[in-house]
Amino acid sequence: MEGLIPTVVLFIAIQFILLFLHPLQPAMSRPHNNFTDLESLLAFKASVADPHGLLATNWTANASFCSWNGVRCSHRRQRVVALKLPDFFLGGSISPHIANLSFLSFLDLSNNTLTGPIPGAIGRLPRLALLSLAFNSLSGPIPLSIFNMSSLVKVSLKMNNLSGSLPSDTDPPFMLPRLQKMSLSENHLTGSITPNFARCSQLQGLSLSFNNFSGSIPPELGNITGLNILYLGANQLTGTIPASIGKLSKLNRLELGGNSLQGVIPEELGNLLDVQYLGLAENNLTGSIPMALLNASKIDNLILFGNNLIGSIPATLGVSWPQLEILNIRRNLLTGRLDFISSLSNCRNLRHLILSENKISDFLPNSLGNLSTSLNYLVLYSNYIKGRIPSTVGNLSGLIGLDLGQNELVGEIPSELSRLKGLQGMSLSRTRLSGYIPHELGLMTGLNALILEENALSGTIPHSLGNISGLQILSLAANGLFSSIPDSLWSLSGLRELNLSGNTLDGSLPQQMDNLKFFDKLDLSKNRFSGNISSVLGNLQMITYLDLSNNSFDGEIPSSLDRLVINVEYMNLSYNRISGTIPKSFTNLGKLYSLDLSFNKLQGPIPEGGVFSNSSIVSLEGNPTLCGAFKLGFSPCPSPSNSKSNLHLLKYILPPIVLVVLLLSCFCTRLIFRIWGKKLNLPSEDASLNTIRVISYRELVRATNNFSEANLVGRGSFSSVFKAYLDDGLITAVKVLNSENQSALRSFDAEYCVLSKIRHRNLVRIISMCSNLDFKALVLQFMPNGSLEQWLHSHSYYLNLLQRINVMVDVSFAFEYLHHYHPHVVVHRDLKPSNVLLDENMTAHVSDFGISKLFLGDSQSILSATAPGTLGYMAPEYGSTGKVSRKGDVYSFGILLLETFTRKKPTDAMFDGELSLRQWVTRAYPSAVLEIVDPDLLKKVLIFNGNQALQLLLANVCRRLLNWVCLARGTRHKRGFR
Ligand SMILES: *[C@@H]1O[C@H](CO)[C@@H](O)[C@H](O)[C@H]1NC(C)=O
Ligand SMILES: *[C@@H]1O[C@H](CO)[C@@H](O)[C@H](O)[C@H]1NC(C)=O
Ligand SMILES: *[C@@H]1O[C@H](CO)[C@@H](O)[C@H](O)[C@H]1NC(C)=O
Repeated sequence: MEGLIPTVVLFIAIQFILLFLHPLQPAMSRPHNNFTDLESLLAFKASVADPHGLLATNWTANASFCSWNGVRCSHRRQRVVALKLPDFFLGGSISPHIANLSFLSFLDLSNNTLTGPIPGAIGRLPRLALLSLAFNSLSGPIPLSIFNMSSLVKVSLKMNNLSGSLPSDTDPPFMLPRLQKMSLSENHLTGSITPNFARCSQLQGLSLSFNNFSGSIPPELGNITGLNILYLGANQLTGTIPASIGKLSKLNRLELGGNSLQGVIPEELGNLLDVQYLGLAENNLTGSIPMALLNASKIDNLILFGNNLIGSIPATLGVSWPQLEILNIRRNLLTGRLDFISSLSNCRNLRHLILSENKISDFLPNSLGNLSTSLNYLVLYSNYIKGRIPSTVGNLSGLIGLDLGQNELVGEIPSELSRLKGLQGMSLSRTRLSGYIPHELGLMTGLNALILEENALSGTIPHSLGNISGLQILSLAANGLFSSIPDSLWSLSGLRELNLSGNTLDGSLPQQMDNLKFFDKLDLSKNRFSGNISSVLGNLQMITYLDLSNNSFDGEIPSSLDRLVINVEYMNLSYNRISGTIPKSFTNLGKLYSLDLSFNKLQGPIPEGGVFSNSSIVSLEGNPTLCGAFKLGFSPCPSPSNSKSNLHLLKYILPPIVLVVLLLSCFCTRLIFRIWGKKLNLPSEDASLNTIRVISYRELVRATNNFSEANLVGRGSFSSVFKAYLDDGLITAVKVLNSENQSALRSFDAEYCVLSKIRHRNLVRIISMCSNLDFKALVLQFMPNGSLEQWLHSHSYYLNLLQRINVMVDVSFAFEYLHHYHPHVVVHRDLKPSNVLLDENMTAHVSDFGISKLFLGDSQSILSATAPGTLGYMAPEYGSTGKVSRKGDVYSFGILLLETFTRKKPTDAMFDGELSLRQWVTRAYPSAVLEIVDPDLLKKVLIFNGNQALQLLLANVCRRLLNWVCLARGTRHKRGFR
């Protein structure tokens, strides 16, 4: 027994020393030692995160490591030769100890979520032939040692976050004598492309695309005689295409697109006799398509779009390139004729013929009809193509997309087009086509989109279009169509966009139009439609763009509109005969960027706030009997008060204050609350549910710069919040949960549950969520103006009286909805200034539903064992009974209100022991109320107006407000307020 302890200590000490020495001294020096292998594998296991336990349950001591998942050993020596763990969901980092697996030949850790750097020690593995770390989140530079490995054959580090540049000179050494394939694409690598690759004499495939490489393409690359694949696309490469590329006689695929390359396409590329894919798109290439290129007879994909190429398209190209599948030369300056089309009939595999946005000027040849029936896309828009559409186009039975728009075509739409049964999209817009719309088009039952706008078409809209059951987009705008819209169109259940603007269509729209519910865009402007506008508006639900202007619609705008058009961004009802008042609910149209109601017969007061406070969004002129909205230039509405001096004042200051008072009193007397609240129209629940988008973990990683400190905007016990720039440009706040904490998981569920069900102008909006086993995040609306906490208690911030009142009104709206109007009562339980966030318009949004409760059914309160709210804001009775109910929120609201106007926290040092914020306010009331109101508030008001009367009024209002809160709280929570 006695001897055991020193032995153990010695053993541990040796282990420790060994571990310590490893990075310095590679295992090579200790051959024939499979103990090192075990140790390295254990170190590897210890540094990765293994959320599915795939290693934990398998890499166990009771079996030889040679039988472990992903591990392969040599037969004789039982040493690890391969470690292959792709798709194992491994996180964490790669241990440098892996470099002690000195017999390792294959290392494949691709498609995991590994982070951190690539250990430089890997470069010392003497036998490593295959290294794949692709599809991870590895960062930092590529270790230089990797460019000096005599054994390496294939390397893929594609799709990581690697940065830094490649070694450009030969010190440190660049020796990869056996390298056959290297892919470093989709990283953030910078610097120039090193000519050293020319030293890799065995190289067959090199992919560096989707990085930030700059400089020019080294001509030395032309010396890699065995090169088969060269991908340098989507970088920032400049200079010209080196003629030496033409020496790569084995080259099969060449991608240089998406750079800033200049000059001409070198004739030498014609020597690439094996090349099939040639991609030079999106550069600044000039000159013409070289005739010599026709020698590269195996070309099947020629992608040249987005350059400045001039001249004509070689007339014999179809004969020279019989295997051509894709010819995409759109967005160039090509001129000349379409005579090459007849040679293309030789290309029986042709799938895409894309010539749009050039300057080709010719008649459409009849030989178009001889093209391969495998042709899927024929896209010729925006050229100077003349003449009639040949009826032979109807032979192209494989067509999916046909676009001949923005040309100089004349004549009628050939009815033979209806033979294109597989066609999904057809645009013949902005040409000079005339005549009727052939009713045979109704036979093209595969169409999703039919665009015939801006032509000289006449007659009526064929009834048969109603047979195209999959139609989603129909535009017949700016033609000479007349008569009414055939009823059959209203039966197309998939229609999302309908544009009939600028015709002479008439009649009224039917009362029931079920398909209108799902419309995204509806433009019926500049026609002669009549009838009651409410039949149209009452049916819309998902609309984002609505233009009914310049018609003869009459009737009133239904007051329930906001329920239906919560998504609307553009609404134009101008130049009609619409009467009645503007519904108040219009102020809630949060996404609206343009509202035009001008030149109608609207009357009565213009609603205040929301869109109506921004004159650049709203247009109301030409409605002589509208009133209010001083800022928009209308005269005031007749007012019950006639005091001239205070009129102005009362108009702006009093309503919100009265509103607050009303609202607050509503909290106590639910009866008033319900009666008054009924007049409010509240956003529909289902509309919001449809708009939650899907965002992947990868997008969030990109959006937050890998959750970097620079993007961090806040950190709580359960979560951290990052500012995130989504791929589509939207700025959001990403709340990442601390997934080790059980309470955090519960709070995630509670918050998601509430926010995904509820949408309200004064609640933070949820945009998306991302939930994996080990990662949970909510993507929320970003609030650029921070929290009320910051505005009240940071030095450089100041809210004036009106702003403070507005914030409180906003908060009360949110709670009114949560408590009384949502189908299930929601109790927030943690209302405090830091949970009230302000958007760019200083509109307040209540946030953080982490400990909120959703009451299903009728229960109004429950006992809760979970975390209580924040001290100071939490109702005292919660402490004694543990009951969660709406009253608790009302209490917190009262405290918030006192804090907002006194600028004193309930947890302020002066409120220890007996005196509380509430008592302090109560004591000061009524005689000394001016002493407790935030002194800045009164000072600033004074400076602002220098008006004694105003100051008095404000003081009075403050007094009444505080008085009311004290009374309300005192009566309802006598027990609680000590
Ligand atoms: C580990 O997984 C491998 C491959 O699936 C299997 O052959 C081996 O028996 C497993 N070992 C243990 C200890 O579960
Ligand atoms: C290590 O090698 C010895 C023989 O060299 C062998 O007996 C032993 O089983 C090996 N251990 C493992 C874990 O493979
Ligand atoms: C990565 O793994 C996932 C899940 O196993 C799989 O669906 C996906 O196809 C893999 N991706 C690659 C590039 O191997």
